[in-house]
Amino acid sequence: MGGGASRRPHPPVVGSPLPVTDTALLEVRGLTKTFGSVQALAEVDFEVLPGEVMALVGDNGAGKSTLIKCVAGIHGYDSGKVLFDGNEVHIHGPKDAARLGIEVVYQDLALCDNLDVVQNMFLGREERDWFFRLKEPIMEQRTAETLSSLAVTTIRSIRQPVASLSGGQRQSVAVAKAVQWNSRLVILDEPTAALGVAQTRQVLELVKRLAEQGLGVVLISHNLHDIFEAATRITVLRLGRDVGVYEREKTTQQEVVHAITAGIPTKVAGVAETGTVVS
Ligand SMILES: Nc1ncnc2c1ncn2[C@@H]1O[C@H](COP(=O)(O)OP(=O)(O)O)[C@@H](O)[C@H]1O
Ligand SMILES: [Mg+2]
Repeated sequence: MGGGASRRPHPPVVGSPLPVTDTALLEVRGLTKTFGSVQALAEVDFEVLPGEVMALVGDNGAGKSTLIKCVAGIHGYDSGKVLFDGNEVHIHGPKDAARLGIEVVYQDLALCDNLDVVQNMFLGREERDWFFRLKEPIMEQRTAETLSSLAVTTIRSIRQPVASLSGGQRQSVAVAKAVQWNSRLVILDEPTAALGVAQTRQVLELVKRLAEQGLGVVLISHNLHDIFEAATRITVLRLGRDVGVYEREKTTQQEVVHAITAGIPTKVAGVAETGTVVS
């Protein structure tokens, strides 16, 4: 990793979860963001604890991606505060975010099809020796360690091009890539949107394992079934406002759908069409 940053690749250690504490890893307070006349976020509060999967849900245009991009430093914001580990932070771009241990896996994944798994894992952060040669054995070893620590076991060769992987495997590589740098908060934007049933399960298991290892995870999804499978808590955004935080074990899909739509009956992925939508 260039730029003098001090983080080193470090596979998360399976079986030694960090204690879950009450101090929020990420805390967003009163965040407001406008694009011209569009108010994308209005006084949004949002928090993620270490060791939890916080789902972020809401209809199209609710402000989910904007909130994440503000946290990741892609967008500035008009007012409000972002705290990390209880301290206010000013994140001006992905490098600042990475320095804090915040990694985002965007929907398009940003993997290079023509490169192999190892090359993708170290893209832009390659390990080189004094003669600027790539340290291939070290990168291979670290890739293998990271994948195995995350129990990603279906990839036959880490030297195969990413183009030859299944959707679930690609998503797993993207997640592994994000967490191998001592990450503390991983944000996943619709990680299962393009996946089949078995692959979705594989990725959700991976999401749960990240939280078990003490990371904070933000899971953005349209699919309430996935959310109820993997999330600890659920934050609902509607029209740029946070309208509720629900504990997965104390709520129902109907209640969350109601918060998302405020009573406008809508078909939502993951809810049976015959299910009652509270009006
Ligand atoms: N770069 C942008 N320029 C102008 N308007 C934007 C931009 N990004 C998002 N918006 C607007 O902000 C609102 C929230 O969008 P977004 O955060 O993408 O919602 P979501 O991810 O929940 O679907 C929408 O009204 C959208 O049109
Ligand atoms: Mg979005």
